[in-house]
Amino acid sequence: MSLKARGTWQWAEGADIAQRSELLTSNHQIDSCARCHARRGTLGEYHPGKPLLDTHRLAIVEEPLYWPDGQIRDEVYVYGSFIQSKMHQAGVACTNCHNPHSNQLVAEGNGVCAQCHLASTYDNPTHHRHQIASAGSACVDCHMPSQLYMGVDSRRDHSMRIPRPDLSMSTGAPNACNQCHSRPKCGLGLLGAG
Ligand code: HEC
Ligand code: HEC
Ligand code: HEC
Ligand code: HEC
Ligand code: HEC
Repeated sequence: MSLKARGTWQWAEGADIAQRSELLTSNHQIDSCARCHARRGTLGEYHPGKPLLDTHRLAIVEEPLYWPDGQIRDEVYVYGSFIQSKMHQAGVACTNCHNPHSNQLVAEGNGVCAQCHLASTYDNPTHHRHQIASAGSACVDCHMPSQLYMGVDSRRDHSMRIPRPDLSMSTGAPNACNQCHSRPKCGLGLLGAG
């Protein structure tokens, strides 16, 4: 069994986002990570190469483990979040960002995302509305906001969603913007900025 996510990422003429050269047809890699990196119960030993659901009962994406819109709330260990994402649908795999042996990210800062998202489009104030290299310009801070567990354990949401402060008003779910910006009655304040 190969855990390699075959195919390459290519840039179509004029595209802002790279695409797979061929569809990802195997779940082998993500299943092999998810047997540990998922909130789940086990029904037996994991069999490499067999569908994860044969032996693992995954937690459903619902409250109180997740917020109503699917963001992480309790500790849910990555998989249930990642499979909600457009990037999973498009065939992105864990090893596009993580070296599977060292567990280090494959590039630093926004470079991880720039592998497939054109920097001139996305790492740009026209996209994120913050100054380049400022606190508000890190892709992960808006698209993978973190949550702290047990006072020490910070984990990032792998659902890679778009921040929706408008939904916070109706669902009570948090949003990335409010991790840095407070919500005064009028105007926009920065947390810690008085
Ligand atoms: C047999 C169980 C198991 C498998 C399989 C597994 N992991 Fe892990 N992984 C762990 C444990 C345990 C930790 C440490 C717990 C923690 O920090 O949350 C961890 C930590 C990590 C971290 C965080 C490292 C850090 O420095 O904080 C990453 C990234 C990671 N794993 C990625 C992967 C990927 C990608 C795969 C599949 C290729 C994978 N793991 C497969 C058990 C596993
Ligand atoms: C291996 C390629 C690859 C990497 C690396 C990658 N992306 Fe993506 N990303 C994609 C593809 C493909 C799509 C889906 C485009 C589509 O279907 O419209 C996507 C879509 C997205 C979306 C849109 C989600 C939505 O709901 O509309 C966001 C946000 C995003 N990526 C953020 C990131 C961030 C943040 C990083 C770095 C941590 C990153 N991406 C790294 C390939 C990648
Ligand atoms: C300050 C917050 C913020 C930062 C930083 C940020 N984004 Fe976004 N991003 C957004 C918002 C808000 C949207 C929704 C925009 C819309 O609907 O017009 C979005 C949408 C997207 C989308 C989907 C829509 C599209 O244009 O394809 C992708 C992909 C994306 N961002 C990638 C990135 C990448 C890659 C980075 C880092 C280089 C990044 N973003 C940095 C806030 C941010
Ligand atoms: C688009 C890039 C991307 C993909 C794909 C991705 N991760 Fe991550 N992952 C990150 C980033 C960025 C962090 C934060 C690392 C940091 O803060 O040092 C992270 C952190 C983690 C951590 C550390 C604890 C946490 O939750 O922050 C684990 C474990 C992990 N990822 C596992 C996985 C597994 C398993 C997969 C596949 C199901 C996966 N990741 C897919 C970018 C990615
Ligand atoms: C990681 C922290 C962080 C995140 C996340 C973040 N910001 Fe910011 N934001 C800042 C900082 C720091 C500044 C001031 C410095 C600057 O302009 O870059 C700022 C400035 C701003 C300003 C200009 C305010 C002024 O008084 O000039 C607006 C508007 C803004 N952010 C909106 C947003 C929105 C909307 C989101 C979510 C899509 C967001 N920010 C996410 C840190 C953040």
